[in-house]
Amino acid sequence: MITKYIIIKPPHFSDLNEAAKALSEGELVAFPTETVYGLGANAYHEKAVRSIFDAKGRPADNPLIVHIAEIAMLNNLVSEIKPHVRKLMDTFWPGPLTLVLKKSSRVPMVTTAGLDTVAVRMPNHPVALELIRRSGVAIAAPSANRSGKPSPTLAQHVLEDLNGRIAWIIDGGPCEIGLESTVLDVTEETPVLLRPGGITLEMLEQVVGKVISDKSMNRMSRPKSPGLKYKHYAPKGEVIVVSGRASKVCQWVNEQLLDNEKKSIKSVILTASEHVQNYGNGAGKSYGSCKKPEEIAANIFRLFRECDEQGIEKIYVEAVPKEGIGYAIMNRIEKAAGGKIVDMEEK
Ligand code: TXA
Ligand code: MG
Repeated sequence: MITKYIIIKPPHFSDLNEAAKALSEGELVAFPTETVYGLGANAYHEKAVRSIFDAKGRPADNPLIVHIAEIAMLNNLVSEIKPHVRKLMDTFWPGPLTLVLKKSSRVPMVTTAGLDTVAVRMPNHPVALELIRRSGVAIAAPSANRSGKPSPTLAQHVLEDLNGRIAWIIDGGPCEIGLESTVLDVTEETPVLLRPGGITLEMLEQVVGKVISDKSMNRMSRPKSPGLKYKHYAPKGEVIVVSGRASKVCQWVNEQLLDNEKKSIKSVILTASEHVQNYGNGAGKSYGSCKKPEEIAANIFRLFRECDEQGIEKIYVEAVPKEGIGYAIMNRIEKAAGGKIVDMEEK
């Protein structure tokens, strides 16, 4: 298959028409959102949705998020909306909040991987919203990466992973947030945070009061969000998260870098712009200012991909405080590290 690639610059949307038509008729179209690029299919078209799993190499038991452009599109997707859920929609949509709701019978089982719930969000990106409107249907879309790779924050990343496997790529520039949306299960009385993201726990609690998260639980024994059990977002190189006081982190990492160099192991440290110069031999790569965690969120997946391109074998990453968007950043880098976390305060 030849993948068609178009660049869309709002407010010029007329070039979207052909892609929107193809999308509604069952083709796969990758498109920008404010979080990461999505790989879209008509959510009601079983064959199209099934082809998402093939193109990504995604396990069939991992359900998709359905994207809408208007609240009215919910009528076909869900059976009821409780008042506190309505409040969340009014406050955070369009935006990086995905809500897990009881599904209506019209949503095919392949879209929700057999669950009786459906995850829905209204993305805050003019190109995504316009594409959905012009296609006239709700769009099922996971992140537009090959399964297991970091989510794409540039159209170039989608091209690297999916060229020749999908019908269209719509380039709308870099994604502003850079991490996938917050996923919140609102099927029970008290909402449960399944994946931290751009809408922070603090922001959610201001609107609905108590939210259950792994900060408030000892640990989920069985993940309720099927995607959580997979290793995600991982570059090919080994990721090691290092936390603790900056001076201690710096000393220990420099020792490791030196040791790796002796063994001809290519390694880098992803660090705050304020700390780059503390690391020897140009091994420090800035992930943004430690005073602006939203910069770190926007850069981290791109940096993981750059490390792969450069054949980096060991990627040390300075930890950030688990507050606000920092909670989501740590969730992604800890997953990429597959549990390899070194706490300097415990050494
Ligand atoms: O920001 C985002 O959410 C991006 C953009 C494209 O919108 N999409 C995205 O999709 O990250 P994906 O498929 O990579 O992640 C969806 C997550 C998975 O962890 C999946 O298991 C969970 O949402 N999920 C989807 N439907 C669910 C459901 N019915 N119940 C529980 N978890 C669900
Ligand atoms: Mg994904």
